[in-house]
Amino acid sequence: MVDVEIRELMQPFVLSDYQVQEVYSRFCNETAKGLRRSTHDQASTKCFPTYVQDLPTGDEMGKYLALDLGGTNFRVLLVTLKGHHDATVESQIYPVPKDLMTGPGVELFDHIAECLAKFVAKHDMDKAYLPLGFTFSFPCVQLGLKEAMLTRWTKGFSCPGVEGQDVGQMLHDAIQRRGDAEIAVVALLNDTTGTLMSCAHRNPDCRVGVIVGTGCNACYVEQVENVELLDPNYKRSRSQVIVNVEWGAFGENGQLDFVRTDYDREVDRKSINRSEQLFEKMTSGMYLGELVRLVLLRALERNKIFKLCPKRAAFVAVLQNNVDIFETKHISEIEEDSFPEFTSTRRIVKELFGLDKASVEDCQKLKYICECVARRAATLVAIGISGLINKIPDRKVVVGMDGSVYRLHPKFDSYIREMMQKLVKPDKEFDIMLSEDGSGRGAALVAAVASKST
Ligand code: BG6
Ligand code: GLC
Repeated sequence: MVDVEIRELMQPFVLSDYQVQEVYSRFCNETAKGLRRSTHDQASTKCFPTYVQDLPTGDEMGKYLALDLGGTNFRVLLVTLKGHHDATVESQIYPVPKDLMTGPGVELFDHIAECLAKFVAKHDMDKAYLPLGFTFSFPCVQLGLKEAMLTRWTKGFSCPGVEGQDVGQMLHDAIQRRGDAEIAVVALLNDTTGTLMSCAHRNPDCRVGVIVGTGCNACYVEQVENVELLDPNYKRSRSQVIVNVEWGAFGENGQLDFVRTDYDREVDRKSINRSEQLFEKMTSGMYLGELVRLVLLRALERNKIFKLCPKRAAFVAVLQNNVDIFETKHISEIEEDSFPEFTSTRRIVKELFGLDKASVEDCQKLKYICECVARRAATLVAIGISGLINKIPDRKVVVGMDGSVYRLHPKFDSYIREMMQKLVKPDKEFDIMLSEDGSGRGAALVAAVASKST
């Protein structure tokens, strides 16, 4: 049991039932606004139609290339769809140097094309015709399956010359500039779509795809009559379409101000995309560790933790001077730890702050801080998922999930389920499944389904 001082400090992170209900209804209103043509521009959650209208049947076959940009790693993948719900994936991670994330867009796309060429050569495929699905995990207005205009960069990218441009065309041009392989960009998709598709390939009840990783977002299957932005030609051909909610932007119209803390405001102030992606800044891996650093700093300054530590001043200085020193993976490690050993917690405190032998009491306090920050994130994610499930007509809904926070945090899944039990309508049944290779298998499936329907 942690002491009352730390509980008081963390109180702003503990959402009351009233706050949960209020965020839930604001989220539902916002997504409804995003779908309607007349209110779309004012909505923070843009609910972009993806033009992916067919879920996989499991019979898809063929070899596809895939690219995955926007998560922790940039990857090139070769996917072989084998029918019978089966697929094999070979992949290679390529580093994206930090300066390319903020340098001219053309250079980023040239780098992507170069990695693609190396991959193709390594697999002896440079003479073959290869269809490619591009998982580009940023908000885009799609004009069709292979045309996607970037609306804004998120997650630390800010390359000039890409916003407002068709990223499919930019990739195509970069591949042409090299001229060393015959690769056709046949589909562009968000990582949430890839997640939904890869899970639907295995489980036909999957209707929602969620990422809680570097960023945080979801997509779901909507009835076309509710998606006013979808081109009427597409509306006529199918009854449903995947909608990319882009819920990371939720809160930009002030809807979350009543639950945001001073720490959230500080994280936002220091970010390169100020006032944007406010829900994402409370829920995703890029920001959760930094929230803990700020809380820990406040706790130290107010003498609520490490009270007897002889090196307090040095400790405070390390925390003050090193933005992002506390990483989201540390939250996972600390929450995994058990009383009274606290092996990982003590190691982290030693590694980051040079502090020997943290006391059991201090370890408990640090664990509680991590728990409150992670639990609030999971609660917000659960609110979003429940809002989507409750508007899907099917009684049973499976949610495909991926992302480093969801995968690595030992309790994130149970925090989400606990909140969903309260929010999902009682006449519905839900389950969550971990996605395998959303950006590979999912991209190949979108490409395969695209070639089937053209
Ligand atoms: C991966 C998916 O596993 O998770 C990617 O295949 C996705 O498409 C990624 O972008 C998101 O998680 P993270 O933690 O890498 O940002
Ligand atoms: C950011 C992106 C979104 C993506 C998410 C998860 O929120 O804007 O497109 O799905 O991160 O990677």
